[in-house]
Amino acid sequence: MRILVVGGAGTIGKRLVPELRSRGHDVVVAGRTSGEVRVDLAEPETIAAMYREVGAVDAVVSIAAHGALDEFAKLTSAELRENMRAKFYGQAELVLQGQHRAADGASFTLTSGIFADEAWPHVTGGGVISGALHSFVLSAAIELPRGMRVNAVSPTMVGDSADEFGGHFPGMRPVPMDELVRHYLDCVEGDRTGTVVRAYA
Ligand SMILES: NC(=O)c1ccc[n+]([C@@H]2O[C@H](COP(=O)([O-])OP(=O)(O)OC[C@H]3O[C@@H](n4cnc5c(N)ncnc54)[C@H](OP(=O)(O)O)[C@@H]3O)[C@@H](O)[C@H]2O)c1
Repeated sequence: MRILVVGGAGTIGKRLVPELRSRGHDVVVAGRTSGEVRVDLAEPETIAAMYREVGAVDAVVSIAAHGALDEFAKLTSAELRENMRAKFYGQAELVLQGQHRAADGASFTLTSGIFADEAWPHVTGGGVISGALHSFVLSAAIELPRGMRVNAVSPTMVGDSADEFGGHFPGMRPVPMDELVRHYLDCVEGDRTGTVVRAYA
């Protein structure tokens, strides 16, 4: 398969991309400054340019952008909207534009996160982004044309980020990287659609 991985140079991507290549897939990595193709999920016109440059693909995997930490007592709706710009609207845009650009039967695999389902301090934005992505996947799956599929992987803190993020989320058990990579592979190579894969260790 020809697979576009947005954010493929990041923490999860560094594990997933070599695995996809070792399974014989032709992988194109996109990012704002990394990979072979430039895209900023916060800027819809760069998504259009990326699809024009890459051409028809059989799968799009998004493991890019993130929800910013926030402080509820000071949070404004304007900050919430800005927080959603890349990770929610950008990933939605990948599917909305991609439905007209990708090959018949193509799949979209988005990334959300555990805060859709578990409340932790300082992640109201992250929770709202991921909850919205889960609802988006549910609706998109029944309307995508030409046999296309869409799913989301919702990780808890991932093994390779435990040193960096563990202090923010004390007691949170990380999901092992090989387990997480298997979930992405299942979404790309399997036939499921409309599902949220909760990788909560
Ligand atoms: N790491 C965790 O513990 C964890 C847990 C739950 C959920 N997640 C989610 O999983 C996804 C990937 O996480 P990660 O830890 O692998 O992230 P990461 O290490 O920060 O890597 C993110 C990648 O995405 C690219 N990127 C960032 N912002 C972008 C944008 N606006 N447009 C296009 N590309 C962009 C970056 O490259 P450039 O800088 O070149 O753009 C980088 O290659 C994120 O949505 C994150 O919220 C991660």
